[in-house]
Amino acid sequence: MKKLLIIGAGGLGREVAQYVKDINQIKPSFELLGFIDSDPDKKNICFDNVPVLGDFNELKDQLNSVEPIYGFCAVAKPEIKRRLVQKMEDYKIQSVNIIHPASYVSPQVKIGKGVLISPYCTLTTNIIIGDYVHINPQSGIGHDSRIGAFSTLYWSVNISGNVTVEEGVEIGSKAFVKQGLTIEKNAVIGAGAVVVHSVKEGKIVVGVPAKEL
Ligand SMILES: CC(C)(COP(=O)(O)OP(=O)(O)OC[C@H]1O[C@@H](n2cnc3c(N)ncnc32)[C@H](O)[C@@H]1OP(=O)(O)O)[C@@H](O)C(=O)NCCC(=O)NCCS
Repeated sequence: MKKLLIIGAGGLGREVAQYVKDINQIKPSFELLGFIDSDPDKKNICFDNVPVLGDFNELKDQLNSVEPIYGFCAVAKPEIKRRLVQKMEDYKIQSVNIIHPASYVSPQVKIGKGVLISPYCTLTTNIIIGDYVHINPQSGIGHDSRIGAFSTLYWSVNISGNVTVEEGVEIGSKAFVKQGLTIEKNAVIGAGAVVVHSVKEGKIVVGVPAKEL
């Protein structure tokens, strides 16, 4: 059993806590210690019996123990994820993947570290998922696609085949990306967008068909 901390006691963190319990039901894998969160108002509160332990610096002694401590960064925004992952590394917290047992991930999918694959996602063949990518429920990724590190796909995102999503991209709920396109780094795709052209670095696109905001 890996001793596990969830970084962030927000909505996503609480979802991840439940996914961890679901994983443990099938194969006991994690001892869920609690959440790390910098919000002093949340300290010592329990969410479904999982306590908020405090910020990183308040857990120094526990984190310096000889036993390895594992963590999962459960904050969706790529720029915040980057910052928190750096802190995890500073405190020698090792990242784990949370892959919900109710998702379909074919054996031809290569997955980095710190990755979330939520319930009812489908990832088919020859796909690469970079480090710290979050894939929220009911999303699908088609053959030969790549998702770059720190990117987040919100609910019900549909990525067709041969799509390249670079680093730090956010893709809103119910968005669709047509086959063969490239979404360059740090771009944002609005909820419900239908993306039929590649998107340049840092651009925000919305609508059907998607246009720059
Ligand atoms: C695209 C997005 C990032 C823009 O956010 P923003 O920069 O804060 O933009 P604003 O909310 O100020 O809206 C700016 C304009 O874009 C429009 N707009 C915003 N999001 C839109 C979307 N998804 N589709 C179409 N138009 C959109 C607004 O109506 C507004 O138009 P107006 O100026 O004519 O009134 C955001 O709206 C979005 O869709 N994010 C994804 C959210 C999501 O999927 N969350 C899931 C959480 S689980």
